Amino acid sequence: MIQVNRRNSFSRIITLCAAFLLTFSSSLFAQIDASTGDADAGKALFKTNCAACHKLYKPMTGPALYGVVEKYEQDFEWLGKWIRNSQELIATGDPRAVKVYEENGKKVMNAFEGLSDADISNILAYTQTEVVAPLPPPPGEIGETVPGGVSNEIILAILGFVLLLLVAVLYIVNNTLKRFAQAQGIEVQEEETRKPLWKAFVENQFLVLVSVIFLLLGSAYFAYGWMSQVGVDQGYAPVQPIHYSHRIHAGENAIDCKYCHSSARVSKHSGIPSLNICMNCHKSIGEVAAETQAEGVNEYGVDYNKEIQKLYAAVGWDEATQAYTGETKPVEWIRIHNLPDFAYFNHSQHVSVAGVECQTCHGPVEEMEIMYQYSPLTMGWCINCHRETNVKVEGNAYYEKIHEQLSKKYGVENLTAAQMGGLECGKCHY
Ligand code: HEC
Ligand code: HEC
Ligand code: HEC
Ligand code: HEC
Ligand code: HEC
Ligand code: HEC
Repeated sequence: MIQVNRRNSFSRIITLCAAFLLTFSSSLFAQIDASTGDADAGKALFKTNCAACHKLYKPMTGPALYGVVEKYEQDFEWLGKWIRNSQELIATGDPRAVKVYEENGKKVMNAFEGLSDADISNILAYTQTEVVAPLPPPPGEIGETVPGGVSNEIILAILGFVLLLLVAVLYIVNNTLKRFAQAQGIEVQEEETRKPLWKAFVENQFLVLVSVIFLLLGSAYFAYGWMSQVGVDQGYAPVQPIHYSHRIHAGENAIDCKYCHSSARVSKHSGIPSLNICMNCHKSIGEVAAETQAEGVNEYGVDYNKEIQKLYAAVGWDEATQAYTGETKPVEWIRIHNLPDFAYFNHSQHVSVAGVECQTCHGPVEEMEIMYQYSPLTMGWCINCHRETNVKVEGNAYYEKIHEQLSKKYGVENLTAAQMGGLECGKCHY
């Protein structure tokens, strides 16, 4: 009887919670509201639609948009109307609309009838981006996670939270049941008549044994996890002598990786470009665009123009005379990816012969404001890929003959790097 009751109220609480969450969230998404907007999506929309006339923190053709939600006291209906068609709103004689219009010299803002409520929420969320500069992660801490990944701490925190929630729910259920029982006149067994929990536990040898085994297994698991992380520098992102952004160069300006890392194709090493290569462009680019600069200062906490001055100081370039002074000092880039000396890795083998993209191993470089180590570079990582990746045999004269023989011998069509000898110790170890 009581058992049945317990299960009923438990599931009722859960369904109630779920129903509450569902109605709550769906009612929120139905209209414009900056607090439900996604600032990242908003940033992209802002760039394509609004950036021609607006900046966040400085006036341009139109006023600066940072804080505009507060300016209009969260009147999202008004903001939506303005953004969709400001001229229509002005024509109705709306005092706030007329005021902005006149203050800005009666310039006409485009109409954006096509933007959905969600789009506008996202853009408005983006206009609330604070002027703070996230600093780069502290260099090289063991066990750091790759940016964007979920760290163990977060998972643990969530687990802890769920457990707490469960305890709370059980407590409530227990209390309700007790009250219910009392109301029905059923006698509730009191605590005193029971054995204390610890005594019951100690007396139950089977339970003690199981707990000890779990404890031992648990600590062994953590010890193993800790040890296998030693020497793995995934996520390592040192502060470089010049703040050099792959996002700007390889991403926004789409400069080919091999323009700078030209030896990746033909040799073991990829190499870091010499400063002469930088000067091919930077003789004429002494300053970044105003928008890039504002973004750098606001979002990444770097003054891009100062960084270019560091480059000039290093190569001894005098902007005023447009000539080299002859005074140079080397830039000491801090090496990020580094295999131990006893392991052999060859870029051209992977890039030119195997046709593996740089990003497969180095991650989304074109999005990295600060370069970091994306892959673990462990032996297991190399081996896994050798097991899984098929060698491109077609049109590869080097392999066609071997492939013919092997496919006859084993009847295989696809050839993995492993089958080609990619698991032999001697291939990777001297
Ligand atoms: C063609 C230029 C132009 C574009 C594109 C543009 N705006 Fe405007 N915006 C203006 C001007 C100019 C004003 C000032 C009012 C006026 O003169 O109409 C303004 C005013 C505003 C205001 C009121 C600001 C205040 O301080 O009261 C908001 C909000 C706004 N724009 C949002 C947007 C959004 C969001 C977008 C992109 C979806 C956008 N605007 C695209 C020119 C533009
Ligand atoms: C304009 C020149 C330039 C271009 C283009 C460029 N890089 Fe770089 N790269 C550099 C410089 C300079 C460094 C050293 C500074 C740093 O680590 O941020 C570097 C560092 C790196 C590193 C880390 C090296 C280490 O120390 O382990 C990797 C990996 C890398 N680049 C990959 C790429 C990939 C992949 C692309 C193409 C998507 C690319 N780079 C495009 C100039 C360039
Ligand atoms: C193919 C042309 C090209 C080459 C080569 C090049 N840059 Fe740039 N660089 C640019 C452009 C374009 C910008 C961005 C201008 C803008 O957004 O207004 C830029 C911006 C910068 C900036 C400011 C943004 C940032 O990344 O911090 C620095 C510093 C810089 N470059 C350093 C270097 C260094 C160091 C090298 C050599 C390793 C180099 N550049 C090679 C074209 C180049
Ligand atoms: C199969 C995986 C893989 C691919 C593909 C790959 N790299 Fe690497 N990269 C590595 C490893 C591993 C290292 C560390 C090498 C070492 O320490 O000897 C490295 C190191 C580097 C370095 C540091 C300098 C050096 O040569 O040690 C740069 C720069 C670099 N890679 C750029 C590139 C570029 C650019 C491409 C694409 C053209 C590319 N990589 C493709 C795995 C890869
Ligand atoms: C993204 C997948 C990938 C990763 C990661 C990778 N490799 Fe490879 N590797 C290949 C492929 C594919 C080939 C076959 C290339 C060819 O056609 O010879 C290859 C070939 C090789 C070869 C030549 C094998 C032979 O038979 O001659 C060596 C040595 C090698 N890899 C070392 C490494 C090392 C060391 C690492 C880790 C630091 C590594 N690779 C990581 C894909 C990968
Ligand atoms: C595809 C390339 C590759 C092959 C094949 C390979 N290794 Fe490794 N091995 C590596 C790399 C890379 C490291 C360095 C890993 C690191 O720094 O964490 C390594 C590290 C090691 C280490 C040092 C311990 C460690 O994990 O750091 C030992 C021991 C080792 N290898 C033995 C072997 C033996 C034995 C074989 C043959 C069965 C073999 N390796 C085959 C790439 C390879």
